[in-house]
Amino acid sequence: YGDASQKVDYVFKVVLIGDSAVGKSQILSRYARNEFNLDSKATIGVEFQTRTMIIHHKSVKAQIWDTAGQERYRAVTSAYYRGAVGAMLVYDITKRQTFDHIPRWLEELRAHADKNIVIILIGNKTDLEDQRAVPTEDAKEFAEKEGLFFLETSALESTNVEEAFLTVLTEIF
Ligand code: GTP
Ligand code: MG
Repeated sequence: YGDASQKVDYVFKVVLIGDSAVGKSQILSRYARNEFNLDSKATIGVEFQTRTMIIHHKSVKAQIWDTAGQERYRAVTSAYYRGAVGAMLVYDITKRQTFDHIPRWLEELRAHADKNIVIILIGNKTDLEDQRAVPTEDAKEFAEKEGLFFLETSALESTNVEEAFLTVLTEIF
């Protein structure tokens, strides 16, 4: 996991956004430290973690920014998006409302981020398949219409988390 000893060829800033409790912070902690916490606290302000990966024989340091889904705890929007080359737009597959809010997050992203930003839509918590409220097809269709990449993940079971980051980082590259 993330070999920090080598030289870094590129640093890419990637932002996580989406409603509170969809699992943004746990996706990040799974990716950066291979850790998961079932009683994760709501994020206040901004946090970030990094992980360096080798992509096309170059060392790429991903600097992943994570902020609160809750309005009152959110960071200053323009500063959060500044310099971001990738974005992960996260909803919870068991909470329809978190998917219904995705157009709003996308609007904010498009208003504040660089127009060439690479965006992936992520439906998290696939380990809770029996509680699914958002059909995969609905999300896939939305992603296609909006020109976004799309994957379903489970931070708990470590499913597709690495793939999601790799998709974004490889495309930026
Ligand atoms: P804010 O910081 O408030 O915006 O929330 P967040 O999107 O960062 O959510 P967080 O990562 O803190 O996760 C919220 C809750 O969902 C916690 O109880 C997590 O343990 C749980 N959770 C996150 N990912 C998964 C997952 O893949 N599966 C399951 N079952 N629970 C998850
Ligand atoms: Mg959080």
